[in-house]
Amino acid sequence: MNIRPRRNRKSEAIRSIIEETKVTTDDFIFPLFLLEGASDKVEVDSMPGICRLGIDQMLKEIEECLKLGIKSFDVFPVVPEHYKDKTATKSFDDDFFYQKALRKIKQEFPEAAIMTDVALDPYSSDGHDGIVKDGKILNDETLEVLGKQALSQAACGIDIIGPSDMMDGRVGYIREMLDDNGYTDVSIMSYTAKYASAFYGPFRDALDSAPKSGDKKTYQMNPANRREALIEADLDMNEGADFMMVKPALAYLDVIRLLKDNYSLPIAAYNVSGEYSMLKAAGAKGWLDYERVMQETLLSIKRAGADIILTYHAKEFAKLNS
Ligand code: PBG
Repeated sequence: MNIRPRRNRKSEAIRSIIEETKVTTDDFIFPLFLLEGASDKVEVDSMPGICRLGIDQMLKEIEECLKLGIKSFDVFPVVPEHYKDKTATKSFDDDFFYQKALRKIKQEFPEAAIMTDVALDPYSSDGHDGIVKDGKILNDETLEVLGKQALSQAACGIDIIGPSDMMDGRVGYIREMLDDNGYTDVSIMSYTAKYASAFYGPFRDALDSAPKSGDKKTYQMNPANRREALIEADLDMNEGADFMMVKPALAYLDVIRLLKDNYSLPIAAYNVSGEYSMLKAAGAKGWLDYERVMQETLLSIKRAGADIILTYHAKEFAKLNS
């Protein structure tokens, strides 16, 4: 035997010099859920360890995360039912508690990269990402609301806008709105290949944003399709996206690799709520070693080609590795 691969595994030092993939806190965007009550803090039942936070609590959380090396955050609002309506008007109300909180966050931590989600669902009485009429999701009418929402968020000083709605033409529409209003510096991270997945369940618990009727299959992609992701990616590339995202991550590692090999934009992967909860549940049962499977999971997403990982594990990972 003149070839013995085990020679390269014989010690920690050797293993570390040949290590191909490293996950660090530089890779993370940490999703946060904002509550209206400034000092409120409520754990999400289906996401142990993740709390919905009022703005005062959130500022503390961001400060802690920055100290741990996490520099980017994606802030989602938990919108009380009485604010919701058919056309998601609160989503572009500059005086809404969400917009006020965003301005505070940027004021307090100008060095942090803050991302926001653009879609109607948290603000919609129908719980859909677009405007619903006679049971149908209207594409072009929805674009107008998405544009206004993006502008309202950009005006808060947000760094990255994340359209997660999967309407056709939204990246180009939002890019033009932003540019026409002087926000040429605001980036767009498109949810390029966003699948109609059952892994979003706990997120919809967190935001109380589940669809009131029907499902999201007429706009989110069919989990069976891979090549279709290339159509979405071409569009996003041409419409001016700065980053492309694949969502969820784990059941779609092949799609992450596909986009990585075919496009030069940075690729993000959203390690979604259900993926987080699965590991937490198995860890709590004592069936899996949570800390190890969590790190192995993040490694797999990076190895598949993700440059950026949106993950609820970010803070725990940072603590373990600091
Ligand atoms: C809103 C949105 C969703 C997620 C991010 N933005 C839910 C959905 O599309 O139903 C899911 C994130 C997660 O599960 O962690 N459009």
